[in-house]
Amino acid sequence: MPAHYDLLIRGGVCVLPWGTESTDVGVRGGKIAALGVASDAGADATIDATGLHVLPGLIDPHVHLRDPGDAAVESIPTGTRAAVLGGLAAVFDMPNTTPAITDAARLAWKQEYAEGAAWCDIGLYVGATKENIAELAELELGRGVCAIKVFAGSSTGDLLVEDDASLERVMRSGRRRIAYHSEDEYRLRARRAKFKSGDPYASHMQWRDKETAFLGTRRLMALALKTQRPAHILHVSTAEELAYLAGYRDIATLEVLVNHLTQVAPECYERLGGFAVMNPPIRDRRHLDAAWAAVRDGTVDTVGSDHAPHSRAAKERPWPECAAGLTGVQTLVPIMLDHVNAGRLGLPRLVDLMCAGPARVYGVLGKGRLAAGYDADFTLVDMQRRRRIEESWIVSPCGWTPFAGMTVTGWRVATIVRGQVVMREDEVL
Ligand code: DOR
Ligand code: ZN
Repeated sequence: MPAHYDLLIRGGVCVLPWGTESTDVGVRGGKIAALGVASDAGADATIDATGLHVLPGLIDPHVHLRDPGDAAVESIPTGTRAAVLGGLAAVFDMPNTTPAITDAARLAWKQEYAEGAAWCDIGLYVGATKENIAELAELELGRGVCAIKVFAGSSTGDLLVEDDASLERVMRSGRRRIAYHSEDEYRLRARRAKFKSGDPYASHMQWRDKETAFLGTRRLMALALKTQRPAHILHVSTAEELAYLAGYRDIATLEVLVNHLTQVAPECYERLGGFAVMNPPIRDRRHLDAAWAAVRDGTVDTVGSDHAPHSRAAKERPWPECAAGLTGVQTLVPIMLDHVNAGRLGLPRLVDLMCAGPARVYGVLGKGRLAAGYDADFTLVDMQRRRRIEESWIVSPCGWTPFAGMTVTGWRVATIVRGQVVMREDEVL
C-alpha cells in the first residue's frame, strides 16, 4: 500500500542541514515523516512548491509582544499574526511587559494564555530582577521558557540588574545559557548629562556609544568566565564586541539584528527621526560592515528583529523622551531574503542563523532542522518575487515600520507550523 501523509510538499528546493536538494517532504502528525516521497504516495493535502525554496520554519528569537501591556500597540495575537504573515514559524518573546514576567505566577499565566492566543509557536523569556535571583534556577526550567533575560543596562520597562555582585548571583542561579542586553548602566548614567532634551535624534548613538556596549560586554564576559555560565549577547552592535566575542566561542554566543545589518547612521536618523531610535543604537557603516563580516565568518549565531513596537505618539516625542525600539517581526524575513539576493549571505547561512542557530543557542529540541522526526515547520519562499514594503501591510496595531518604501527581492509565500498551513499568499488561515 502506498504511504499516506497529512500534507505533501512537492517539487520544492529544500534547504537541508547537509545541503540543498530538490526533494518532496511528507508530513504526518505535525512532524516531518519523510524526505524524498514516492510518486504514488497519497496525502490529505498537497502543496505544489515548484519554483519555491522550502526552508525549515524560520524563527525570530527576539520579539517584544507587549502582552500583558498595551494591546493598542501590540499583543500576542496581533504580534504572532504579524509573525506568520512575515514567514516566521516561531518567535521568542521578551519579558519586559507591564507587568514583567519575573515570577512563577506570571509565567504560568503567560504559558496558559499564549497557548490559546498565538498563531505560531512561542518561546518565553523570564526576566531577572535583583529580587528573583534565587528563583531563576527553577524558572528557567519552565514549560516553553527559552532563556532567562537580563537587562544589564536599562531600556524599555523597569527590568535591570546592573551591578557585578548581582550579575554574578544571577549567573550562579541555574545552568542554562542566559540572554543579555549588554550596555553598561553606569556609563549610560554618567554620559546622560552631556545631552539635553531636543538634541538631534542621532545623539542617541553618541550617548549610548560603542564603549557603553563594549564595556558592558567585557564586564559580562569576565563574570561568565568566572562562573562558567554560558552567555548569549543579544543585539551586538559594535565591531569591537564582535572581534572580542570571537575569542570566547567556548562560552559565548551572539545575536545581531536585521536593523544593524540594514540601517546606517547618521542617514537613518535624518530620514526616520525617532523611528530610528533603538537600544543599542544603529551606528555608522564601520559597524554595519563588521556585522556582515561576522555573519560571513560564522561569528554570529542568530539574527533577530528585536520587534519592539511603540505608539506613533511615543516615537514622535523629541529625543531622548522618544521611546526606543523598532517594529520588525513582519519584515525580518523579506529583508533577510533581499540580503540573500544581494549576495551578502547564502540561503543555507540564513537557515543556519534563523533555524539551527536559535535551536542550538536556546537548546530547542525538535525544531530548526528540515529532517525526519522534526516538527513540520516550514517557510516557503520565492526568491524571485519583488515587492515594495508598505506601511499599510503592518498588522501590529501600532501600524508603522522603519522599512516602509524599501523594495525587496525574495518573498515568503507560506508559513507552516507543525503541519498546519497558517499563512499562504499573504492570507492568514
Ligand atoms: O530598543 C529597544 N527596545 N531595546 C530594548 O532593549 C528594549 C526594546 C523595547 O522593549 O522597547
Ligand atoms: Zn529587545
